[in-house]
Amino acid sequence: MELKYRRVLLKLSGEALAGENRIGIDPETVRDVCGEIGQALEMGVEMALVIGGGNIFRGLQPSARGMARANADYMGMLATVLNALAVQDMLEKQGHPTRVLSAIRMQEICEPFIRRRALRHLEKGRVVICAGGTGNPYFTTDTTAALRGMELKCDIIIKATKVDGIYDKDPVKYPDAHKFGRLNYDEVLERRLGVMDSTAFALLRDNNMPVVVCKMFGGDICRVIEGKDVGTIVIKAFA
Ligand code: GTP
Repeated sequence: MELKYRRVLLKLSGEALAGENRIGIDPETVRDVCGEIGQALEMGVEMALVIGGGNIFRGLQPSARGMARANADYMGMLATVLNALAVQDMLEKQGHPTRVLSAIRMQEICEPFIRRRALRHLEKGRVVICAGGTGNPYFTTDTTAALRGMELKCDIIIKATKVDGIYDKDPVKYPDAHKFGRLNYDEVLERRLGVMDSTAFALLRDNNMPVVVCKMFGGDICRVIEGKDVGTIVIKAFA
């Protein structure tokens, strides 16, 4: 099959694993999410995954109130490891080899993130699940996605979410919200569209890394990889 993108970094929020509850890990939801990932893998794409931790702990949420930001962020980073292990288990049950590589060393549980090793795993067709954030507090998993996407020479970052693209305002609250098909980096900043936090977005822009925002379910991830016009793509400039 002709693929537009040969190697992708897929970013999922931790909440994508939580189902209706938005908290914790829901096995059926994990199964469905991995089903979507599996369809993409069967097309022959190489994939690195970054999964957030917000379903378990979010450094900036009320439960972290009063806590030192660094502590709260480390707790969030550990949460990403839990999610990575859940997704590893399910992807492997569905027949897809994976390796979990963590930015924070915990060698009994997973491999350390070593860039050249991650590249080798990708070449061998393993899904590389990048856990532990960047390993540093004050960064988000969006920044991790931007960083790993570049380090691992991915062709694109796919941010799969509940909504099917980038809108001018929240489509859940405003039925007249307008969905963009394509945007450039400057438009995202000027319109304050909040695709990713500013650190992550600055990294993408400075390195010309394209990002697509699309729906998590319903096969859109595959469609993006095939080059179909779904979601919203953010690139430097249009041809
Ligand atoms: P190749 O070198 O390409 O053969 O990769 P490989 O990952 O199959 O080989 P390796 O012998 O490095 O790893 C075998 C298994 O051990 C895999 O499931 C790895 O994820 C796991 N593994 C490797 N290094 C570590 C580590 O530091 N900690 C943990 N917990 N597992 C590891």
